[in-house]
Amino acid sequence: YSTVPVIAIDGPTASGKGAVAQAVAAHLGFHYLDSGALYRLVALLALDNNWQQSDELTADKISELVHWANTLNAVFDVEHGGEYILLNNIEVSARIREEATGNMASKIAVCQPLRAALLQRQRDFAQSPGLVADGRDMGSVVFPNAPLKIFLNADARVRAERRYKQLIGKGFSANMSDLLHDLQARDARDMSRAHAPLKPVEGAFVLDSSSLTLDETVKAVLDLYAAVADSTAV
Ligand code: CDP
Ligand code: CDP
Repeated sequence: YSTVPVIAIDGPTASGKGAVAQAVAAHLGFHYLDSGALYRLVALLALDNNWQQSDELTADKISELVHWANTLNAVFDVEHGGEYILLNNIEVSARIREEATGNMASKIAVCQPLRAALLQRQRDFAQSPGLVADGRDMGSVVFPNAPLKIFLNADARVRAERRYKQLIGKGFSANMSDLLHDLQARDARDMSRAHAPLKPVEGAFVLDSSSLTLDETVKAVLDLYAAVADSTAV
């Protein structure tokens, strides 16, 4: 699906995918795709329309999701020395990172027509000289021919602590036991869904970052990529 090299980084919430993928992309001069942000943007539209976490995904709701995905008006800008995201010309950089948004994203992400509607938009990020993409199904569905696939994992408690620090650092309030509970619920839903479930795809390198620093994890991915690039001359 793409002629440029893609590094696919999949894994559960707060395993470090985003931080690692951005650092690897910066190091290689590659583009970066945060696929979860697309699901989070559609989740924001659902929340703006007063959807509840407990709502059933009826046929009407599914067509609404597909419509939002097809008409998604989003701007991603990482040049501002941080993340800057616009949805329908309104800045949502902070709201998109709230746990409520992530939980709604995980809820709507079970919907296959929504996933199909977001597919091409994700593939369009594969531009020269290459792409680092993070999410749940980068290696399995979106970029199945990626020369390097990583499954990044870490203990649930370590991940909850990372997310806690990250949220507090951004000025949000957070509670460890709620975070751990939500994170485990989200993992369970992401792993058990029928379409594009979260699991290491064949050929993926499983990397456990529980006891690694961010820099060590980034280096591990760069080393793996150097080995792959050497052997395939990409
Ligand atoms: O940062 P975190 O891992 O918490 O979440 P994210 O990557 O922003 O993704 C939010 C939710 O979107 C996940 O819980 C998944 O259910 C869904 N998602 C997905 O289904 N497929 C992707 N490629 C990326 C995210
Ligand atoms: O994208 P994902 O939800 O998988 O995680 P993230 O938002 O990239 O990372 C969660 C937090 O863990 C960030 O603040 C990272 O700096 C931190 N972290 C990490 O990613 N890797 C480590 N080995 C240690 C900390």
